[in-house]
Amino acid sequence: MRREEIKAVFDQQAQGYDRQWARMAPIREGLHFLLESVFAGLPADARILCVGAGTGAELAHLAREFPLWTFTAVDPSGAMLEVCRRRAEEEGFASRCRFHEGYLDSLSIEGPYDAATCFLVSQFILERDARSAFFRGIAGRLRPGGMLASSDLAGEVGSSEYEALLDAWLAMMAAAGIPPEGLERMRAAYASDVAILPAATVASIIESGGFQAPARFFQAGLIHAWFSRRAAEDGA
Ligand SMILES: C[S@@+](CC[C@H](N)C(=O)[O-])C[C@H]1O[C@@H](n2cnc3c(N)ncnc32)[C@H](O)[C@@H]1O
Repeated sequence: MRREEIKAVFDQQAQGYDRQWARMAPIREGLHFLLESVFAGLPADARILCVGAGTGAELAHLAREFPLWTFTAVDPSGAMLEVCRRRAEEEGFASRCRFHEGYLDSLSIEGPYDAATCFLVSQFILERDARSAFFRGIAGRLRPGGMLASSDLAGEVGSSEYEALLDAWLAMMAAAGIPPEGLERMRAAYASDVAILPAATVASIIESGGFQAPARFFQAGLIHAWFSRRAAEDGA
């Protein structure tokens, strides 16, 4: 999908987004629980960049657990970001947040971040070089050694394992209340609008974007997550 289409899709979903995915909470909470440990060594006053923050699920979790951290939420979908802002106001951490409607390349330059999150975002970038450049854009905003936690749908499309996993994934979505037409739309989107690549390939794209040895710390169904550190400029 092109940028404008992705933005339109999320603008349209924003109001119902949290309700639609509410029953996926066990997966989300497992990922966020592990994320706490991954980021546990960051400074008490860490600055966090949330790329593709959406309605603010990971941001809100980190804001609750780490009361002195500050956040920059970046998302091209103004409607998603508005839900995120409302959540921050309701939960009392809006004063620790900055909201940027747009992409990373239009975010004003400010001091480097200690860490970044990028959950379920890079998968929408279909072209491999562009996906690598996307991660490079994040690396460029981090201090040396700064951390990235990212997640994406991954799998070896066409393999019997992937097909079995996809069936189980869609069955789980059905049990979570996604209607049949939504499941069909999702199956079609996975085939054409989402770059589902083998986990090792996603890791190598993250690495080519300027991060050291991504470690896969989570998998639930098709969702895989990695953490990595910004590599030194010379790649050492
Ligand atoms: C599937 S949602 C995930 C939201 C949130 N990270 C979560 O896990 O709940 C993907 C979000 O990424 C945003 N997005 C898509 N492409 C992006 C890009 N190139 N840069 C930043 N955000 C992007 C979308 O607008 C959407 O809000």
